Amino acid sequence: MSGVRVDLGPRSYDVIVGPDLIASIGRHVTTRLDAGRAAIVTDRNVAAHYLEPVRASLEGEGIETIEIVVAPGESSKSFAVLQGVVGELLRSKLERGDVVVALGGGVVGDLAGFAAAISRRGMHLVQVPTSLLAQVDSSVGGKTGINTPEGKNLVGAFYQPRLVLADTDTLDTLPGREFRAGYAEVAKYGLIDDEEFFAWLEDNREAIFLGGEARESAICRSVEAKARVVAADEREGGRRALLNLGHTFGHALEAICGYDAARIIHGEGVAVGMALAHRFSAAEGLCQQEDADRVERHLEAAGLPTRICDIPGAFTPAEMMEAMAQDKKVKGGRLTFILTRGVGRAYIAEDVDPDAVRAFLAAELETSARTHASSLGE
Ligand code: GLY
Repeated sequence: MSGVRVDLGPRSYDVIVGPDLIASIGRHVTTRLDAGRAAIVTDRNVAAHYLEPVRASLEGEGIETIEIVVAPGESSKSFAVLQGVVGELLRSKLERGDVVVALGGGVVGDLAGFAAAISRRGMHLVQVPTSLLAQVDSSVGGKTGINTPEGKNLVGAFYQPRLVLADTDTLDTLPGREFRAGYAEVAKYGLIDDEEFFAWLEDNREAIFLGGEARESAICRSVEAKARVVAADEREGGRRALLNLGHTFGHALEAICGYDAARIIHGEGVAVGMALAHRFSAAEGLCQQEDADRVERHLEAAGLPTRICDIPGAFTPAEMMEAMAQDKKVKGGRLTFILTRGVGRAYIAEDVDPDAVRAFLAAELETSARTHASSLGE
């Protein structure tokens, strides 16, 4: 078991990473919070595996529980489902000093976190992430929120949890596609500012996918990287934007796909987005083509998509540009991208020329169309 401290003054908290943690969640909560009751918010898939042990551990420490189970998938990050969760918290008369336990992946964490932020003007929040993506990224750092028809995560709040409990055993029941998608966010930390970590991932990818010590190390190093960035820039005034490497392109792809998990899930969008960010940087002469190739090779070896044509369906440069205009990093109508000068040398590029992005996307899509046509023997 390892612990990482997210250093935010009076709002500092621990992220505990290791196997078999769910069995002791009650003790971890009671040593930090004086909560008489807990609402466990989870989805149907996660509930089948972990709701009962979480409930038993909390009740074993004298914390009364209620359960709020939502449908799995991105569609639960909506105003309607949020209203249902908040309504349940209020009808059950949970108080501000009680705790919301977000048990699940990124969707549950964002939804339950936002419900905790706005119910009674802020209840205690404990994140129990059960997906790789949530363990290394979304459960740490306090971003909570929902999607709207206008775009992803456009409504939400920065609201820090009081504790994050990342039980690595929960990854054993995670579908392979979800694990791969979470791995994109692990690779991201190497690509941002830690070439040595990226090289370690290149050497240890297979062991990480098998589980055990390598997997736990990859998670801890990712959480440490995230904790450092969040401690330096909690509300994304600057450096935290680096964590969005690959997300501008990725969010656009997700939005165009209507968040349809059959076509794309978040980490897959991030993988394609990171590959695009590196290829765009190479095309602009900012980094070497071999850096872009190296990134693509690693993501492909991990079974991740790296090209727009790897995502089912049709995309046009115009709809990609339109979707990116909704990005939260747009300032004064100008696009901010996370670009790179090489592996581990990402930087925030403000005022990127939209014409250059449009031309790059048109070339990417044309290459995709050609590859597709030749694979059909046309
Ligand atoms: N997932 C990006 C961030 O937490 O800032």
